[in-house]
Amino acid sequence: AEEVDALPRAPVVTVMGHVDHGKTSLLDYIRRAKVATGEAGGITQHIGAYNVKTERGMVTFLDTPGHEAFTAMRARGAKATDIVILVVAADDGVMPQTKEAIHHAKAAGVPLVVAITKIDKPDGNPERVKQELVAEQVVPEEYGGDVPFIGVSAKTGQGIDDLLENVLLQAEILELKAPVDAPAKGIVIEARLDKGRGPVATILVLSGTLNRGDAVLAGASFGRVRAMLNENGKPVNSAGPSVPVEVQGLTEVPAAGDEVIAMVDERKAREIALFRQGKFRDVKLARQQA
Ligand code: GTP
Ligand code: NA
Ligand code: MG
Repeated sequence: AEEVDALPRAPVVTVMGHVDHGKTSLLDYIRRAKVATGEAGGITQHIGAYNVKTERGMVTFLDTPGHEAFTAMRARGAKATDIVILVVAADDGVMPQTKEAIHHAKAAGVPLVVAITKIDKPDGNPERVKQELVAEQVVPEEYGGDVPFIGVSAKTGQGIDDLLENVLLQAEILELKAPVDAPAKGIVIEARLDKGRGPVATILVLSGTLNRGDAVLAGASFGRVRAMLNENGKPVNSAGPSVPVEVQGLTEVPAAGDEVIAMVDERKAREIALFRQGKFRDVKLARQQA
């Protein structure tokens, strides 16, 4: 097999937890953004992907919805990630989707960092949250476990530096690396049909580099990267490991969670995509024309 040097890459960190426990607000504080206040009904309904520069390097965050309807999205979020920040509100404690998030993280074998949110609230009870998490086998370091627990507030900013510190420490232990100078491999975070732009997919590059002009296969969809936007909507020409980008140029809307690979041969990408769509006759025709 071809040997390509792997280089250190940014950790992918998924924020999970029960509805309204403060996931988006926490990320807003970290990013100095205001996503949460603009959401319909104050409910996150998709996975947001953000590349954030911290004092100790880049971190890629995935925000997930806490509403019970979005179980599949949470399961995918846990699979594409290196670390999970489990968000539990100090005034609400462990709830059904908290337990579900723990289950996804454990199933994916991903280390947890617990953020006890809303510690600015006078009716909060972080000690009770700890006890409830211990009952779910999520044991803080101070009780002999291996999970860092950090109290935070997205209102005052308290504890957020400490939380980032702990996340980056976990990331260092994992020694995350990926080849950069190689054809891209990634995962579809979400995808939709845009009226003007056609199929649009948010792709998280996991290894290699995705370039404008690359032929790609994304699940049962194929195409050529016509344009790429970063999370701020700015056009970019390439995206390396752990970088999320919005890609235009696919012929169909892929499914969230689909694997993405860049291929040298667009015809081959098309053939595999048609095969996956069950269009065996078209595959045969394409081969005859080749
Ligand atoms: P979903 O994505 O819908 O699951 O919600 P979420 O977990 O992203 O929670 P969100 O950030 O939308 O916050 C829910 C509510 O809690 C909002 O009204 C926030 O203003 C409030 N909130 C979030 N963090 C804090 C905090 O640290 N302190 C206080 N006092 N309120 C907070
Ligand atoms: Na919310
Ligand atoms: Mg949210």
